[in-house]
Amino acid sequence: MKNVVLGLVGVGRIGVMHANNITALNGALNPKGINVKLSLTDVAEEHARNVAAGLGAEYLSSVDALLASGVDGLVIATGTATHPELIRAGVDADLPVFCEKPVAMNVADALPVLDYVRDRNGVVQIGHQRRFDAGYLEARRAYQAGELGWIHSLRAVTCDMTPPPVEFLATSGGLFRDCSVHDFDILRWLTGRDIVEVYAKGSNNGDPAIGEVGDVDTALALVTFDDGTVGTVSASRYNGAGHDVRLEIQGSSRSLMVGLDDKTAMASAEPGVVFPSGEPHRTFAERFDQAYRSEMAAFVELVLGQRDNPCTPEDAVAASRVADAAQESLVSGLSVRVAGAVTSQVP
Ligand SMILES: NC(=O)c1ccc[n+]([C@@H]2O[C@H](COP(=O)([O-])OP(=O)(O)OC[C@H]3O[C@@H](n4cnc5c(N)ncnc54)[C@H](O)[C@@H]3O)[C@@H](O)[C@H]2O)c1
Repeated sequence: MKNVVLGLVGVGRIGVMHANNITALNGALNPKGINVKLSLTDVAEEHARNVAAGLGAEYLSSVDALLASGVDGLVIATGTATHPELIRAGVDADLPVFCEKPVAMNVADALPVLDYVRDRNGVVQIGHQRRFDAGYLEARRAYQAGELGWIHSLRAVTCDMTPPPVEFLATSGGLFRDCSVHDFDILRWLTGRDIVEVYAKGSNNGDPAIGEVGDVDTALALVTFDDGTVGTVSASRYNGAGHDVRLEIQGSSRSLMVGLDDKTAMASAEPGVVFPSGEPHRTFAERFDQAYRSEMAAFVELVLGQRDNPCTPEDAVAASRVADAAQESLVSGLSVRVAGAVTSQVP
């Protein structure tokens, strides 16, 4: 039996979910002879102690104590502004690192981190969990196998039911960097193509506090790929029908929609049509439950040297470049070229 101890920093909204998933991995990975243990820390000490106690995990009083405790991998789920410093700390401790997206608040802040990791041969997986979602995986497989023909249109949607706290939004980098970055990543990953230009618009018809911290509650980005294909990326914080994440891929031979199932947060206006018949997802944690679990299982395999890195910091920064361009377009009202976009691996 191989023992793997993961050290988790940050048990807020997503950190608690990762803590639960890491603990649950034991059941899933034990048949492969892997035993996973969890140690965790958070500056909110009492909360962290409670989370640890509830999961039978070890609580440590600081990041330094966590790194010194003999963990095999570091999982970072703190707010975005702390990611660069913690990634460096994990690499300095010679540990494989999993860090929630994004690498940093913006691309300028992320580039020195990329250099730091590369210069030290660090291993850092970034948390773009959609790369592990069954629907996106199938769409990518079908496209790469030639089953869709050539793609003529892509329409990506990510809508939350309700906004996260305004205090979170104030430091999130904006709707494109916080939310649509998942769509920018998945579009590049699925098509194997770079996005080279973005034109974005947004609106604020919900809580005025969102506008006051410089963000929008709803936005649309028109993206152009390096072969001229166009697509749209749409996001909102106010989708009362449910947590709605979909991607339409229309090809010359066949079309697919990721996220079209009984839980899709969209009703048909056609009389007599009862699809979808189930209860829609309410949160990203529900919608991507399987993907988050698979992502963490992949990190354990990465720690053990059993697989390639499924999402490198360079991948994540390529998506962040598109998000930065979308944010710039939103502010300037002009179409913006994506800095450094190059043609990547065309399937
Ligand atoms: N992949 C996804 O789908 C997804 C979804 C939500 C959030 N995220 C990302 O996860 C990150 C965290 O988001 P969240 O919503 O969980 O935030 P959060 O504010 O709810 O939680 C952050 C936690 O980190 C702790 N913390 C902050 N600095 C710390 C430090 N230096 N040492 C120890 N603990 C520290 C805070 O006390 C808090 O408990 C963000 O970067 C966000 O972009 C990703």
